[in-house]
Amino acid sequence: MKVMKLTIPDIIAKKGVEKISMLTAYDVSFARLLESQGVDMILVGDSLGMVVLGYESTVPVTMDEMIHHAKAVRRGSASFIVGDMPFLSYQVDTREAIKNAGRFCKEAGCDAVKLEGGLEVCDTVRAVVEAGISVMGHIGLTPQTASQLGGYKVQGRDIESARKMLRDAQALDEAGVFAIVLECIPDALAKSITENVSVPTIGIGAGPHCDGQVLVTHDLLGMFDKFVPSFVKKYAQLAPQMKEAIAAFVKEVHSGTFPDDKHSFSMNVDVEKLMADEK
Ligand code: KIV
Repeated sequence: MKVMKLTIPDIIAKKGVEKISMLTAYDVSFARLLESQGVDMILVGDSLGMVVLGYESTVPVTMDEMIHHAKAVRRGSASFIVGDMPFLSYQVDTREAIKNAGRFCKEAGCDAVKLEGGLEVCDTVRAVVEAGISVMGHIGLTPQTASQLGGYKVQGRDIESARKMLRDAQALDEAGVFAIVLECIPDALAKSITENVSVPTIGIGAGPHCDGQVLVTHDLLGMFDKFVPSFVKKYAQLAPQMKEAIAAFVKEVHSGTFPDDKHSFSMNVDVEKLMADEK
């Protein structure tokens, strides 16, 4: 089936009309799976660090690691792909931000990049957009700076931080983002932000009023059980099934019952006779 890749105007036009789905992928198999089920956007998230690379946070993830995985995702899907800019790939200066954002497009074939932050990243957003690269914003709980926010907890619960978040969202909108991820904020605040920006909001732990929703695919499939936030709905519990299958393989190899005839190849000649003739 040929995929109809969304364009930036298609995504913006969905605001208030049709909900937008986004899921993470880090490799070709997951990219194919997501595309086959019609997900609107695939995010090569820097959650890669925890889900696939075994880091404690997203902070150590490098540009080269992101590009390596984004390339694999592109090989598996023709859908709209967003590359997540890792920590310190866009904060040093705007030239470096443009160069790194450009790598996602030129080397990995991404359609857009995502970066975290509000007012403080608006000059960068403007510069990257002016260079011709589409940018998705990300505010609320921003994992790259989670320690400054007091850890992985709900943001914007008090009036001051809620006001700041609304201002951040509007500033990003003015700076030219085509969508904004709202992570881990109260649903009433997400509703208010959604109603006061011109571009779609994509929620994760931000309630039902956002224009779209994103989750980490490994979380929704119940594959990643190290730390699963309470806002994640597990649509499947694959980890126990996967463990069962692996245990069965190990047991059958140890007992010699795998591979059986069904999973082995036969020959057209009598090998023992062949060997005897060779001697
Ligand atoms: O890195 C990531 O996967 C993300 C999403 C969860 C929004 O930023």
